[in-house]
Parts: sequence; C-alpha cells; structure tokens
Amino acid sequence: MPTEPDLLRFLTCGSVDDGKSTLIGRLLYESGRLPDDQLAALEADSKRVGTRGGDLDFALLVDGLTAEREQGITIDVAYRHFGTARRRFVVADTPGHEQYTRNTVTGASTAEAAVLLVDARAGVVRQTRRHTHLVGLLGIRRVALAVNKLDLVDFARPVFDRIAAEYRAVAAGAGITEVSAVPVCALDGDNVVTPSPRTPWYAGPTLLDWLESVPVDDQAAAGPLRVVVQWVNRPGPDFRGFSGRVVGGSVRPGDRVVVLPAGKRATVARLVTYDGELDVATAGQSVTVVLAEPVDVGRGDLLAAVDDAPVPADRFEADLIWMDEQDLRPGRQYLAKIGARTLGLTVDAVAHRLDVTTRERVAATGLRLNEIGLAEVRFAAPVAADPYTRNRDTGGFLLIDRLTNATAGAGLLRGELRRPTNVRWQALDVDQAMRSALNGHRPCVVWFTGLSGAGKSTIANVVERRLHVEGRHTMLLDGDNVRHGLNRDLGFTATDRVENIRRVAEVAGLMVQAGLIVLVAFISPFRAERELARGVVGSEAFREVFVDTPLPVAEQRDPKGLYAKARRGELPDFTGIDSPYEPPLDPDLRIDTTTTDPDEAATLVIDALRAAGIV
Ligand code: ADX
Repeated sequence: MPTEPDLLRFLTCGSVDDGKSTLIGRLLYESGRLPDDQLAALEADSKRVGTRGGDLDFALLVDGLTAEREQGITIDVAYRHFGTARRRFVVADTPGHEQYTRNTVTGASTAEAAVLLVDARAGVVRQTRRHTHLVGLLGIRRVALAVNKLDLVDFARPVFDRIAAEYRAVAAGAGITEVSAVPVCALDGDNVVTPSPRTPWYAGPTLLDWLESVPVDDQAAAGPLRVVVQWVNRPGPDFRGFSGRVVGGSVRPGDRVVVLPAGKRATVARLVTYDGELDVATAGQSVTVVLAEPVDVGRGDLLAAVDDAPVPADRFEADLIWMDEQDLRPGRQYLAKIGARTLGLTVDAVAHRLDVTTRERVAATGLRLNEIGLAEVRFAAPVAADPYTRNRDTGGFLLIDRLTNATAGAGLLRGELRRPTNVRWQALDVDQAMRSALNGHRPCVVWFTGLSGAGKSTIANVVERRLHVEGRHTMLLDGDNVRHGLNRDLGFTATDRVENIRRVAEVAGLMVQAGLIVLVAFISPFRAERELARGVVGSEAFREVFVDTPLPVAEQRDPKGLYAKARRGELPDFTGIDSPYEPPLDPDLRIDTTTTDPDEAATLVIDALRAAGIV
C-alpha cells in the first residue's frame, strides 16, 4: 500500500490587521510552490496596487478573497494548499472579525495545529483569548504564536518575552499543551522561512520549521474503529456495500463490527474502492464496506468495533458554540447533524456560559451570537456518539435552525446524561379514533396567535359558544387563564415563553387524543414554537389562525391598559414593545380585525372547520 505523504492541516487566526494575509502569502511564496500564473499576477498587482513601493506585496495573494468575504459575497473559510520537501500543508484561513466565529469553528474542526497572530504592539488581546479558547475547545493541542510586526518595537526581546509568557498562561487555560512563540516580521520575512539576523537572541524554529516538524498525532486513527455510513451502494442485485468514511481506527476484512444504533453484529467481508480492494482502511479514508451477513444498514448508521462501541443514548452534556443572530432558546426544537445523520434536538438547559476573557463561568439561561456555554441536550432518538475529546467526528454535531435551515451552532459532546427512571410508552386499548367516534366529530386544535389585545380570546370565545350550541365537545385554553395554574411559574422572558407554549402544545395534544376541539388563544410570539405545536398535534388536526391586528390598533384598544404601562417602562418584555412578535408566514387563516368583527371572524373559523370536514 502506498503511504500517504505527510500532511498537516492547520488553521490561522488573528485579529484584523495583524498581518495574517502577508504571513500566509509569504509562506505560499517562499515555499516555492506558487504556480507561475499566480506569481505573474502577484508581480503585476504589486506594481499596480501594492503597498510595498513595487516590491512584492504578499498580502495580495490572499486579500482578493478577504475583500470578497467582507462584501458578504462568500463567508467561508479559504483553504490553501502548499508544500515543501518535507510536508504537504492545508491552511484554513479564517477572517479575523468576531462575527466570523463560524469560520474559526469550521476551520478548527479539521485542523491539527494552529498559527495564531498577534501584533507586537498590542500583545494578547480579547480576540486572541477568544480564538485560543475556541481552538482548545475544538481539540487543537499545538499552537504557534506568531508575534508579528516586531520591527515596529525594534525587535525588542523583552516585548516578545512578555507577550509569549502572557500567551502561555492563556493557552494553558484552554487546554493547549504545546505553544511555540516565534518573533516575526511577516512583511520582511523575518523568521517566517529563514532565521532572522535581526533577532540574534532567538534560537527557536522559524515558523516554517515549526510547521514542518510539529507532530501530527492522529488521535482518531489511534482510537477504536468507527465508520460513518453515508449511503448504501447497491448497483445491482449481487452487490450491496456501505459507503462511508472511516473516522476512527482502522478496518480490515475479517473484523467484527456492530451496526449502530440498532446493535446488530456483522463481519467485514471486503473493503472496496474505485482503485480496487483494500487490506486495510484507516481514519480519513473513504471506503465501501461489504459485510458477510445480510444485516440492515442505512444512511447515518455507524459501524463500530464490537469490543469498543459507544452505547446509543439520547441525553448528553455538551459544549455549545452559538453562531446565530437569534439567541439559543432552551426548550426549542432544533435539528442536529451528527455524522451522516440529521435528527431533532432540544437543548434542555444551559448550565452556564463562559466569559472567554476572564475564563469565568457566568450564569445563563440561553446563549447569544458567539457565546460558548455548557448545556444539556436531548436528541429525538438514541445516537451512537463518543465524547468529542475521543473522536471529533462522532462527538461533534451542528445545530440547525428548523425554520431558516441555517447552522445556528456547533456542539461538542462531553458525556451521556442518564435518565432518572426508565420510562416507556404504555400500550392502551382505547385510542383517539374510538374516543372521537363517540363524540361524532373529529378532534383538532385551532391555534389563535397574535399580539396582546388583538382579539384572540374574544374570537375564540365566540367560536366555542357556537360549537357548544351545536353539541360539539370543546375546550378553550387561554393564555391568561393557563398562566394562573399550570404555567404560573412562568414569566415573559423569551425562555419562559418557549416553555409556556411547549406545555400548552403538549396539553392541547392530549386533549386532541381525548377527542376534543381545542381552541388555543396564546400570543405565542415565536414561529418555532408554533411549528412545534403543529408537530405535537399533527398537521392534519392543526389550524393556525393569525389574529392580525396591527400594533398601533392593539395599542389604541389597550383593553387591559398594559400597552400604556409598557410604554411607561413599568412592564418589561412586553410583546410588540420590547419583546418580538413573529407573525405567521403562511397561516391557515388570517383574520384582519380592522375589517372583521368577532362574529364574522368566528364564522370564518367555523367555515374553515366545516370545509376541512372536522365538524
Ligand atoms: S405568550 O407570549 O407566552 O404566548 P400568553 O398568551 O401566555 O403569552 O400571555 C399573554 C397575556 O399575558 C397577555 O394577554 C397579557 O394580558 C399578559 N401579559 C403580562 N405581561 C405581559 C408581557 N410582558 N407581554 C405580553 N403579555 C403580557
């Protein structure tokens, strides 16, 4: 088997204007592997727009992309490849602004080492601490600190020593075990590739020396066997293989594996690739595994070593890195992408968040953009996962917003949280269909949403009265009333509102099982929780009614005097004033209360129920 040439993936990060582009540009250039056309373009651009008086401006090799990113054309990590006689390198270049935490996370998740830049005049800054913490959290153990622009402090050794010492303390706190500080002037090339005569007091490696010699310890390859199945390869009746990536250990024909989460065991018969069959495949390789036994394997399954396999579980403790403008809301349902699986995930609670500057744990109920915290998470089904520190692929996941499909955060699993009791579903003899047959109508939920004072309760009340007269079995759940009992422990913070709606959705779901027509009148300001309610009840039995009253109209009506109070600043977190309302984008029914009175509105609702065959 041909051995892979030695490859190092590393990440570069720093604050804006630390000189990162110049440094990377110089590494690319001086490694001597720059394609001729790029070299010609660099020479031309340097004369035209360079800042070096016609000399080569290395930043231009890199900054074309940076400018694009800052205009928002592509916000992503730029991966550049270069090589020397000793190693091949893939450098993940991540923009320095704080809002690009996402990119740092993406770049760091596959890197084995990092080069962190600081400006010698500024030393260790907030952004340095932040990046160091992220890099450590994401499992990078080796960092080179490039103390750049040393020419601007006259190559003064005490400045360098002070920054290096301060940084070592920061890095140790982030779990980074090896720090190499290098005094650098990227602009002139000091200690980038060749040792600088201007730092005679420095005997350590140049940056390139460090990159060429830093150990690449492949923790994943040394660990137990893990193969993530990406698809089932079945070109014809006589071949069935499971294509995926080896993300841990190595696999050979004859190995015994367990298919997770189902738990069936099997023997590896063959390892197939485009280039023929393999005797062994190790972490990082893609391969098609053919099993000796006809066991059921699907996309997203994990093949693991029988003697060292994770036990599928649904609740875990996890570090979360939040990357969305919208705050993380405990109780909300997200999607999680772990390995090749996508499934539901709820963050049950945030234990604390971390202040990256002071390293203090701070009490928190949610997480905001760029915050890092420890949380309890619950997957919708058991997953076969490892702690992130053991395997980045089977221990890391992405959190996805269900409505926008955007990556909202990254999660790193620590360990399983066990349930206090064993709770199972109990089989019952009388079901929803039998209960509603007795009622003579189908059950459903009519979910009224809208601002306070929009008229939800008023309309729901008329609807219930009329249905009752017709002999229908109904129940009205009203926000103000339920908040006197079941939800009396909840206030009006976003987190409490999420929980308020979650409980009411569950109760409404139970009442549907009881065969009732349930009218729910809650502000329910967030789309995500209204979608959750639809999911709990089932789409065919759920009707979202948007009681659409513009804020000025609701405020003018102000039936309870609450808007006036809120405007006086006596009622914080009031919907529409200083707490958001997300109107439905596609409600089943929209009622414009400026043109429709409560009686007409009730008629619209009941007509819709008749049209759907519910009554
Ligand atoms: S929700 O946002 O969590 O769905 P819910 O419908 O239960 O709200 O309760 C709203 C009712 O609580 C309002 O009709 C109003 O009478 C009262 N209320 C008191 N404080 C607030 C507040 N800060 N924001 C909204 N409603 C409030």
